[in-house]
Amino acid sequence: MVVGSGGREHTLAKVCQGSPLVGEVVVAPGNPGIAQEFKTLKLEVENNSLIVKVAQENKVDLVVVGPEVPLCNGAVDALQEAAILAYGPNQAGARLEGSKAYTKDFLSKYEIPTADYGNFTQIEPAFEYLAACNLPVVVKASGLAAGKGVLICQTKEEAEGAVKDMLSGGSFGDSGREVVIEEFLDGEETSLHLICSGESYVAMPMSQDHKKVGEGDTGLNTGGMGAYAPTKLVTEEMLADYEKSIVGPTLAGLRNEGVDFRGTLYIGLMLTSKGPKVLEFNVRFGDPETQVILPLLADDLVPLLLQSARGQTLPEKVNFKDASSMVVVLSSAGYPESYPKGEVISIASPLPEGSEVIYAGVGKDESGQIVSAGGRVLGAVGTGDSIEQAREQAYALCEQIEFKSKFYRNDIGHREFSRG
Ligand code: AMP
Ligand code: GLY
Repeated sequence: MVVGSGGREHTLAKVCQGSPLVGEVVVAPGNPGIAQEFKTLKLEVENNSLIVKVAQENKVDLVVVGPEVPLCNGAVDALQEAAILAYGPNQAGARLEGSKAYTKDFLSKYEIPTADYGNFTQIEPAFEYLAACNLPVVVKASGLAAGKGVLICQTKEEAEGAVKDMLSGGSFGDSGREVVIEEFLDGEETSLHLICSGESYVAMPMSQDHKKVGEGDTGLNTGGMGAYAPTKLVTEEMLADYEKSIVGPTLAGLRNEGVDFRGTLYIGLMLTSKGPKVLEFNVRFGDPETQVILPLLADDLVPLLLQSARGQTLPEKVNFKDASSMVVVLSSAGYPESYPKGEVISIASPLPEGSEVIYAGVGKDESGQIVSAGGRVLGAVGTGDSIEQAREQAYALCEQIEFKSKFYRNDIGHREFSRG
């Protein structure tokens, strides 16, 4: 049973369904697009006892928890207490995403490279700290904010305003009652996904997301407008270096804190002129990164999920295809601010070879047609021998999909293509 309702969960369901170990995949709650392919079950993902009940009623053998909110709420702890196998970190592990202030202190304690920072719950010390900061400066709501709680401030006044709005609870509710003020880091971003079981882990291919809504990485931050993997940005030697300087100390640090970290650790990195620095941890697969990472796995994903859920040691070597994958997110124009909903989606068949439609923010109208229902509506995924081929397939698919306010970036992968 995959818990969640977005593109990440659709991909997880598809990949798990391909495993010879799996009889049936169900998705809870899923969405009407996912329901064309999988059985979906009603569920409020914020209700732990309901997750347990639905898993029990449906005699589920393994629950894969997709989003961060149930993980931070302790969904995995609740499932474990009910003796149901669950993939994902427990509540203690999920703090790495649920509290940026905790994470910064953790990084600092274990000397893992990250931006200089201060954590604050009171305005005066925060302003005092700001007075000594260089510009731009980054102000973050410590708690969960769906990727929107980070402001890059160009002036002191802007930063003070952001701190005030967050601490008062005005801009991000309780998630902003503590803020992190952080040094601005310049460089290129990339992310490393690990499937973990305590200190053993499997590293997935490095990916790059496109967080800004506009082409050339301009405009507002979004949940992600497209991604690709693998990226040439990170060589094998560089990855080996990240494993030594970042992954090892992180997992050892967690163990030292008494956290047996199981599940996905997503390490967001900024590659600066002074080396890689950790921007953030997520405790789940990225969305849309999942859509491009999982298709590259040559081995069966399900044994890895099971071993992690059981706390067993993961295999040292996992095989990936010699291939590339790209996802272009089809959003509703206006996202991440306000945007129309309820627009009928049509998809011309046959789909381009090597391409796949992933359903994210979709619903159903009275006549049963699939309609847009969120900012990020669909993912157009292409997987091929090269990144060029993956791009061709993904963009050919974008043209075959229609809904009135369809909007997508035409330049996904632009940094990779300019690397030559
Ligand atoms: P976070 O959720 O902390 O990863 O922040 C979301 C996005 O804000 C990141 O993916 C970066 O693009 C940007 N960001 C966060 N922290 C910094 C920083 N210290 N310097 C520059 N950009 C940042
Ligand atoms: N795409 C960024 C994230 O999943 O956090």
